[in-house]
Amino acid sequence: MSNKILVSGIKPTGRLHFGNYFGAMRQNIELANSGEYESYVFLADYHALTSVKNGDELRTQTLEAAASYIACGLDIDKAILFRQSSVPEVTELTWIFNNLVTMPYLMRAHAFKDNEAKNKDVNVGLFDYPVLMASDILMYNADVVPVGADQKQHIEYTRDIAGYYNRAFGVEQFKEPKELIVDGVAVIPGIDGQKMSKSYNNHIELFCSDEDLKKRVMSIVTDSATSEEKKNPDENNIYKIHKLFLNEEGDKSLRAKFENGGYSYKDAKEELLSTIMKWREGKKEKYNELISNPEKIIKILEEGGRKAKARAEVTMKMVRHQVGLQ
Ligand code: ADP
Ligand code: TRP
Repeated sequence: MSNKILVSGIKPTGRLHFGNYFGAMRQNIELANSGEYESYVFLADYHALTSVKNGDELRTQTLEAAASYIACGLDIDKAILFRQSSVPEVTELTWIFNNLVTMPYLMRAHAFKDNEAKNKDVNVGLFDYPVLMASDILMYNADVVPVGADQKQHIEYTRDIAGYYNRAFGVEQFKEPKELIVDGVAVIPGIDGQKMSKSYNNHIELFCSDEDLKKRVMSIVTDSATSEEKKNPDENNIYKIHKLFLNEEGDKSLRAKFENGGYSYKDAKEELLSTIMKWREGKKEKYNELISNPEKIIKILEEGGRKAKARAEVTMKMVRHQVGLQ
């Protein structure tokens, strides 16, 4: 293993969808599998508590997210896959960081502002979300953090917090990590053209039933152009989703179909459906196999948790000493 460190988390707040996959998971998997990093990939169950208030639900969703990662190809011999809560030290580090950030600073966070704007009650956990995330990242001294575009600000907060800590205690404990956002897949659209998100119910789950998949794909919103009309792929929702699955050549030929005319939306949707079905081949079976053997997933997560915790203990030993807790 090299000494470059990659840290990435995903919140198990529901079944994972193609927005999660193309926006974050795919990069995490490719980078972790490349073997170029010591990779920490975790299910952010402490973060999920800010919205999930049902133990069984959180447990199930955490296992489903882990199964999705493995089914999508994460090599668990190359990445440490674990539950965030297997490392309770991150909550301790969060508490220490909490004393270095101010309320006005956290009030500038997008997630907090969005929730405030919608007049939602913001719990203290949600308010403190960026600090817990900084702890996740700094605990393992990450060099890179692959995330979706929406998480960029959180990584900026993480860099700030690393600097606040180092200056406050006169140490070089934490290095400033970089976010890794892949161009062109910054925001994945959903079936209605808005950002794909569970909250808009416009998402396509990675491993839903074939019937649900068909229903979702066939209800992608389009304009009323006829089959013969030429269509601009860049303004077309079916194209924008389909191209994510294609290589350069496949993309070229799909664009041509839209541009040349004679390609109905029904044809376009059916072709997308068959692309997704092909993508799921092998993966869906693997997912179902894991989900029906949860003890296998639990074992993998526990093993990963032990490794991550051992690393966290090293960091915390130094931190506790630096701040005077030990
Ligand atoms: P949701 O919006 O469905 O609740 P989350 O906020 O839990 O999804 O997303 C988890 C991560 O997956 C995000 O932080 C982001 O990195 C990525 N992601 C989710 N939806 C998209 C999308 N539509 N485009 C790009 N990335 C996304
Ligand atoms: N906030 C991230 C999301 O919503 C999940 C997350 C938690 C994370 N801790 C992290 C991502 C650390 C990268 C690194 O997607």
